[in-house]
Amino acid sequence: MSNDIIIAPSMLSSDFSRLKEEIEAIERAGMDWVHLDVMDGHFVPNLTFGPPVIAAMRPHTKKVFDVHLMIDNPDLYLEEYAKAGADYITVHAEACTHLDRSLQVIRNLGKKAGVSLNPHTPESVIEYVLDRLDLVLVMSVNPGFGGQAFIPAVVEKIRRIRDMIGNRDIIIEVDGGVAPGTAGIVAEAGARALVAGSAVFKGGNEEAYRANIAAIRKEAEEAIAKQAAE
Ligand code: DX5
Ligand code: ZN
Repeated sequence: MSNDIIIAPSMLSSDFSRLKEEIEAIERAGMDWVHLDVMDGHFVPNLTFGPPVIAAMRPHTKKVFDVHLMIDNPDLYLEEYAKAGADYITVHAEACTHLDRSLQVIRNLGKKAGVSLNPHTPESVIEYVLDRLDLVLVMSVNPGFGGQAFIPAVVEKIRRIRDMIGNRDIIIEVDGGVAPGTAGIVAEAGARALVAGSAVFKGGNEEAYRANIAAIRKEAEEAIAKQAAE
């Protein structure tokens, strides 16, 4: 498992009227991946954006587009998200009747395949698809909104997933309530990609984003270093 920390700001907390400027600002501020929250008003009680908006953002950075599909029937749209410029496409286990097939489709589209688990969903649902996965996205809030409180019960789930993964090349990503104060805890448990919306975009300008990203990264890296020294 690589110990490099990936900071993935969630555009959900950005200023939607200035998406280009916001992406450019978080890139200069030190982000690694752009996390894109797609919501359909069915799987989650909120609506955001879809393929045309992702395609419009795509020319403004070369960084990885980490697309989190909080939608029912994702199979219907996987190709569209691939064409819009996604690098990772993550579906929810709860939204996929045939998860194994959905993951195969994503890889056959030439994209990295991720599965996300709601806070109540046991990690056992991924046991038989591990070899089809590039990423596991552990939700640490109930999906739908930014700015919610971190749910501590998921820390044990992250540890169990780390053990299930063994030496496979699969990244554990955590999403929801990640900020200084929780970043170290999830990194110690095994998370290497940290999604943060409100904790990155608070302050509303590039200087603030730089300080916010640095604070999250520092806490996560220190937790990993401390663990390695023990
Ligand atoms: C929630 C989304 C998250 C959200 C996180 O449904 O999947 O990516 O933007 O926001 P914060 O970091 O504010 O909890
Ligand atoms: Zn997300």
